[in-house]
Amino acid sequence: MCGITAYCGQNKALPFLMQGLSKLEYRGYDSAGVTTLEDHHLLTVKCKGRLTNLEEKLLSYKIEGTIGIGHTRWATHGIPSHLNSHPHNNKDETIALVHNGIIENYRELKEELLKEGYTFQSETDSEVVVQLLDHYYQGDLFKATLKVLQKIEGSYALCILSSLEPDKIIVAKKDSPLIIGKAQDAYVATSDIPALLEYTKDVYFLDDYEMAILQKDHIQFYTHEGVPIKKELTTIPYDLEAAKKDGYDTFMLKEIYEQPHVIQETMRGRINHDHISLDELKDIDFQQFHKVYFVACGTAYHASLCGAHVLEKLTRLPVISMVASEFRYNDPLIDENTLAIFVSQSGETADTLAALRLAKKYHATTIAIANVLGSTISRDADYVLYTCAGPEIAVASTKAYTTQLILLILLAYYIAQRLNKNVDLQLIHQLSHIPQYVEDILKDHTLFKEYAKLLENLHDAYFIGRGLDYASVLEGALKLKEISYVHADAYVAGELKHGPIALIENGSVVIAVALQPHIAAKTLSNIQETIARGAKVILLTTHNQEVKNIENTYYLPDIAPVLQSILVAIPLQLIAYYTACLKKCDVDKPRNLAKSVTVE
Ligand code: M6R
Repeated sequence: MCGITAYCGQNKALPFLMQGLSKLEYRGYDSAGVTTLEDHHLLTVKCKGRLTNLEEKLLSYKIEGTIGIGHTRWATHGIPSHLNSHPHNNKDETIALVHNGIIENYRELKEELLKEGYTFQSETDSEVVVQLLDHYYQGDLFKATLKVLQKIEGSYALCILSSLEPDKIIVAKKDSPLIIGKAQDAYVATSDIPALLEYTKDVYFLDDYEMAILQKDHIQFYTHEGVPIKKELTTIPYDLEAAKKDGYDTFMLKEIYEQPHVIQETMRGRINHDHISLDELKDIDFQQFHKVYFVACGTAYHASLCGAHVLEKLTRLPVISMVASEFRYNDPLIDENTLAIFVSQSGETADTLAALRLAKKYHATTIAIANVLGSTISRDADYVLYTCAGPEIAVASTKAYTTQLILLILLAYYIAQRLNKNVDLQLIHQLSHIPQYVEDILKDHTLFKEYAKLLENLHDAYFIGRGLDYASVLEGALKLKEISYVHADAYVAGELKHGPIALIENGSVVIAVALQPHIAAKTLSNIQETIARGAKVILLTTHNQEVKNIENTYYLPDIAPVLQSILVAIPLQLIAYYTACLKKCDVDKPRNLAKSVTVE
């Protein structure tokens, strides 16, 4: 995720661009930059690091321009650096652009442009767009943009500025947000509402495959085919504080609702018909590995359990999952034939980092699965794959978890394919439907609120599941305890009778997950054992199971069992969320917890 701002008006552009970027910094903060039009030429100032670095750098420039674009970056292609920062310019520095999203076919396009003699400054996918604009430009920026939009694939919000046509900014959108504001002195564009609210509450929501030409006192909308269209002006009813959360009450809820989008972004460009492509790992010889470790903490560990399960099933390699704080002190069996995979949203967790360093010391090949680009774990590992969840602000991990699951499943299938194992192609095809399924489950939120009422006044709750469902209930229990302070334990359903069932009494609540077809019936009988002892059950299952006498049953769509771990995360997150809300807990900042645990 990146943040974009654009201003075309009567006053200086820079104040709007910078205040907007500061509100968008949550979308990315590894570098930032602006381009303004100054006396018929483009002036671009950009640098690595937080926005304050850019602010300092700008002090040595006199910036008067009344038209400009800005960007704060959350890198997906290319490390955070000055050259990879936006805006990107063509060679003559007559065209500049900012981009949010991923250009999936940038490698092919770059090849074509290199043959035409173009040179590239950066490692980004975005620079291809500005070079293409240069290539197609024949005196009409709008026409050149239309041609470029026909060529590029992927997701994008683009703002384009040219000194050759100094009265306008062209913007275009597909699968990345872009909002246009009608301010008193200007037309402005930003990635998100908070970035423009200080200037106006009157906005146009640009839809996918739409574009616009912004001028200081005029705006015209078009389709990506160049056909003029009309758009409705909407007035935003809420204030800046509410807008940062996008109208949601909390960051956690906002992040839960972002999941369809970020899951899509994490898969983007990584599924190629029947093949998974993870180019970042192309140099690894997977034949050399005799065993695989997954190492992580908390939620990331639960995602690792799923990844480990899938990888072992597909490759028949011995796969061990370990909590990082145990791995580092347990003298694990590591050598040069070991593959060690470290999963971390922040990329800074002290235990995971120490475990990674230990694995490297004993010559394992290391892969990091991280969300924060340029984080220590992502830099220290031999290879890195990024989830594209964007910054996660709520302490309780939600979107990072589901994007980790997606990426770990992709990784397992990728390794299996590299080892020439037979893989279930149907599952690969089903992956593309996951965002829609998640969207559909989110629509049932009122039901999960009802389930939460069962937990509101309890001290304890029990979660049960078997196989992959056990990893899901571990995560469900963690979510509930960390934000609602209801003590929750997760058990392998078959273990109930070996002890925990002694705790079940009249009014106990058991949350059961039965989604793995080969063992779901067993879990259902364990549920009956708890009902016989007075428990109230919330069951998450599919219509394929024969469910008897369980009032609170939620049916998930019938898809590949492996993918159920992603879908079932949504009801579990929402049950925990609404329980915390009913108890009036501080959902985003639970007591005693920090977002990033950088101490042992
Ligand atoms: O940044 P990391 O993924 O390494 O963090 C690991 C855990 O600290 C984290 O998942 C924690 O358990 C979350 N608060 C869970 O919601």
